[in-house]
Amino acid sequence: MAKKGNESLTTIIVAGSLCLVCSLLVSFTVVNLRERQAKNKELDMKKNILMSAGLIKAGDDVEAAFSKIDTVIVDFESGEITSEVDAKTYDQVKASSDPKMNVKIPANLDVAALSTRAKYAKVYVSRVDEKIETIILPVKGKGLWSTMYGFLALGADTNTIKGFAYYSQGETPGLGGEVDNPKWKAQWVGKKIYDANFEVLFTVNKGSVTDATANKEYKVDGLSGATITGNGVTTSMQYWFGEHGYGKLLEKVRAGEI
Ligand SMILES: Cc1cc2nc3c(=O)[nH]c(=O)nc-3n(C[C@H](O)[C@H](O)[C@H](O)COP(=O)(O)O)c2cc1C
Repeated sequence: MAKKGNESLTTIIVAGSLCLVCSLLVSFTVVNLRERQAKNKELDMKKNILMSAGLIKAGDDVEAAFSKIDTVIVDFESGEITSEVDAKTYDQVKASSDPKMNVKIPANLDVAALSTRAKYAKVYVSRVDEKIETIILPVKGKGLWSTMYGFLALGADTNTIKGFAYYSQGETPGLGGEVDNPKWKAQWVGKKIYDANFEVLFTVNKGSVTDATANKEYKVDGLSGATITGNGVTTSMQYWFGEHGYGKLLEKVRAGEI
């Protein structure tokens, strides 16, 4: 009888110890993975930023390349650099849906139907001999199914596109999803955002852009069977490079104030 009792106790102790070890292992793995996932996410974002501006090639060291560019926070309203928030931790995407950190876009200016935008922008600047060479700006736009998030890189003239890429979008592969097609994105390089009066002229064309296309320096090919996505790209560029978007910041860059 006493032997049976001892056996039961041993079984309980072994099973309990096993449970404890397993739960400790699982907790350790979760914590460890969470940190690694966060690091990988950050690294991936840095890669997206650099790739959108053509500042990195396959195989390059992302951290080394990213350390050469400055991250600055810009107050959209004044167009000035601010230290109101920490550039290291600030998340513009999260801020745009946080009532304490965003502003409502006035209906007459909300051409991209975004409703709100963050008060501050997280902007990336690459310099050569202290002079601005590339400005990388976060953009988002509404496609048919999804909100598309990406970066557009401009040259020092604040007008010539140096690169463009979405890092997140949920449009239909083969239709709106062609916004991710490297050939389509490559067309953006060298195109202009603004006309001579700094009015936004950039558009995704309806159909292909040919030598005969009027204002072809402001246009990229339309996305076949995906006019709605293409229009979302166009309107988002109109918004982000207009007066309620990066207009004031870019004005200051042109004036040599930044
Ligand atoms: C299953 C399905 C998926 C579609 N996905 C997209 C899309 O991602 N982007 C888009 O603009 N249109 C998409 N469309 C087509 C739109 O409904 C619409 O017809 C199209 O944008 C019009 O463009 P078009 O004038 O170039 O044909 C999709 C249609 C279907 C049936």
